[in-house]
Amino acid sequence: MFSAISWSLSLGLALQAAAAPPFRNDLNEHQPRNISAADLKYTLPLSPGNTAERANSIHVKRDTFVYGPGICGDVPFWPTGTLGNSTTQTDFEKFTAEGVPVKTAVFSDQDIALTAITAAGGIKQLSDYELLYQDQWKKSIPDGVDLGVLSNYTDDLLFSMERLSINPYSTKRLNPSDTLPFPVEDNIATAITGATVELLLKSGRLFYADHSNQKTLESTGRYAAACDAYFYIHPTSGDFLPLAVRTNVGSNLVYTPTDSANDWLLAKMMFNLNDFWHSQWYHLSATHNVAEIVFEAAYRTLSDEHPVMAILQRLTPELFSYRQSAISVLVNKGGFIDRLFAFSGAAAIKTTSDMYTSGFAGNFQANYFYPNLRSRGLLDSTFGPEIKAFPFLEDASVIHTAIKDFMTAFVDSTYPDPSVFTQDKELQAWIVEAVAAKVMDFPTSIDRTTLIDILTHFAFLVSAEHQTLNTNDLAEASGSLPFHPFALYQPIPTAKGVTDLVPFLPNASQAVSQIVLTALFARPEWVKSDRSLTQMFNDPAMLRGMNKKTAEAAAKFQTTLMRFSDVVSSRGFDAEGLCQGMPFIWRTLDPQRAPYFLTI
Ligand SMILES: *[C@@H]1O[C@H](CO)[C@@H](O)[C@H](O)[C@H]1NC(C)=O
Ligand SMILES: *[C@@H]1O[C@H](CO)[C@@H](O)[C@H](O)[C@H]1NC(C)=O
Ligand SMILES: *[C@@H]1O[C@H](CO)[C@@H](O)[C@H](O)[C@H]1NC(C)=O
Ligand SMILES: *[C@@H]1O[C@H](CO)[C@@H](O)[C@H](O)[C@H]1NC(C)=O
Ligand SMILES: [Fe+2]
Repeated sequence: MFSAISWSLSLGLALQAAAAPPFRNDLNEHQPRNISAADLKYTLPLSPGNTAERANSIHVKRDTFVYGPGICGDVPFWPTGTLGNSTTQTDFEKFTAEGVPVKTAVFSDQDIALTAITAAGGIKQLSDYELLYQDQWKKSIPDGVDLGVLSNYTDDLLFSMERLSINPYSTKRLNPSDTLPFPVEDNIATAITGATVELLLKSGRLFYADHSNQKTLESTGRYAAACDAYFYIHPTSGDFLPLAVRTNVGSNLVYTPTDSANDWLLAKMMFNLNDFWHSQWYHLSATHNVAEIVFEAAYRTLSDEHPVMAILQRLTPELFSYRQSAISVLVNKGGFIDRLFAFSGAAAIKTTSDMYTSGFAGNFQANYFYPNLRSRGLLDSTFGPEIKAFPFLEDASVIHTAIKDFMTAFVDSTYPDPSVFTQDKELQAWIVEAVAAKVMDFPTSIDRTTLIDILTHFAFLVSAEHQTLNTNDLAEASGSLPFHPFALYQPIPTAKGVTDLVPFLPNASQAVSQIVLTALFARPEWVKSDRSLTQMFNDPAMLRGMNKKTAEAAAKFQTTLMRFSDVVSSRGFDAEGLCQGMPFIWRTLDPQRAPYFLTI
């Protein structure tokens, strides 16, 4: 049966995709970790003759790439042993070397920005934050902030739609049978929405984001509330809008759009601070930690000659660099988090681990793209109206479908017969190994459909999901000022009536430092490069070792995502000043802007 499978050369099919632009980077830079550039034919552990030698090489890996205690949190396991150590060391060295030009660009831009804002007399009013961006960060944030983010941030629709774009993982629809988390006076709710909050709940129109647990986090001495908030679908316009923000600290004030412009804007900024904290540690937990441990289990059970291992290798350059980087400059004592945020680096590690261990971020199958959205009532809800504009779903679903199409072609052509699949002992061992690795919520049995889902989710996590929450989006939207401060510099008000927001916000040097950190995460030089999501499977060395249908699917993937890139990059504001129903133009999931792997 197996011998009938053609492993013929792909004839470079993947390179034939018509729309392929010239790439700036050298493809050879990131060969899979332990596979030579020489053509290797990936094979299943079935062919006569390869069994003993192959089993032995897996044995070597199991002996030398072993689970050790987590770093940057106790979970998940971190590789140790000779091969584990050399792998983590090599990954970190590559990552560090690649970061050198990024740092050089960021720090030279920092000096220019500091000089400009100092010459302008610092930040005296909210509009002065624009000076931090105008003609600034030319090397490190060359494409600037998303259009509309600086001009339209006081628009309530921008605030609420951020929950459906730049951080789609914190908000859920309340179930009509839920108890209301907090009351909003009837006359106020009715003035804003045309209905009481109870009525919104009963009609499935009420949404909720809860960051109240942040009040227990270790403080750096800077200030933060621990907001929870309501959003709602407007009974007549159908718009997704904010209703109220509660601070959960001090006098536990509840703010709404009926408050003064300053009070309400401060409330939205306080919420954003908590939501950004949530999105960043969710990103570390749900994408990095999960991808790492799934890979570790696979690496210890699949031969390097296994086609599934080749795909996993392709998707994970420098996989074991990121947690090392985090503990050396980000969450370490005195690192960026301690210096710029309201909560400490230790609090960041705790948040990340808690999100992982609870399963909220750590669960594998429950966090598949559509099930995750369904579980929070954002998709196919059995109560309440559909969300009329959902930019994350709109863009990510195109990418998810394209990934799934590729994985389906790959799995179907690799295992043309179900009996071939069940004979693959290495894949079966991966499922067993996942238990020892303590992968949370991993499938407990595997057939072709399960494998397609596992690989699709893995590829989605390291690309679209990661980029939504991190990489270029921090500098271009989610970490932009003044609307998204990392910390406040005055105590949270105990009464309404604040007259000036500037004292609460980062001053000129603190603001520049915030932008520096976001720029260090950006990889603008990889936009339209061989690192972009369009190139996820365009690895000629890998494809040469696979069957023809896989190479064809890789070429089709590239063409599909190139076309989608045209769609995203040509978006503009409509007559109402909106784009995808938002007052800003969200470019994050342009597949030529998003990298295909975790990046940083
Ligand atoms: C990795 O590659 C090196 C050099 O080709 C080889 O000696 C080593 O055995 C390989 N390791 C594994 C685990 O296959
Ligand atoms: C791997 O690294 C860890 C941590 O540095 C060390 O404790 C361990 O001895 C190393 N193991 C091997 C086999 O080199
Ligand atoms: C910003 O505030 C810090 C202390 O909080 C201070 O050291 C620094 O000089 C201030 N920078 C500017 C530009 O005001
Ligand atoms: C958002 O900002 C852009 C300019 O940056 C403007 O053209 C557009 O009309 C604004 N939209 C709204 C709803 O204010
Ligand atoms: Fe990351």
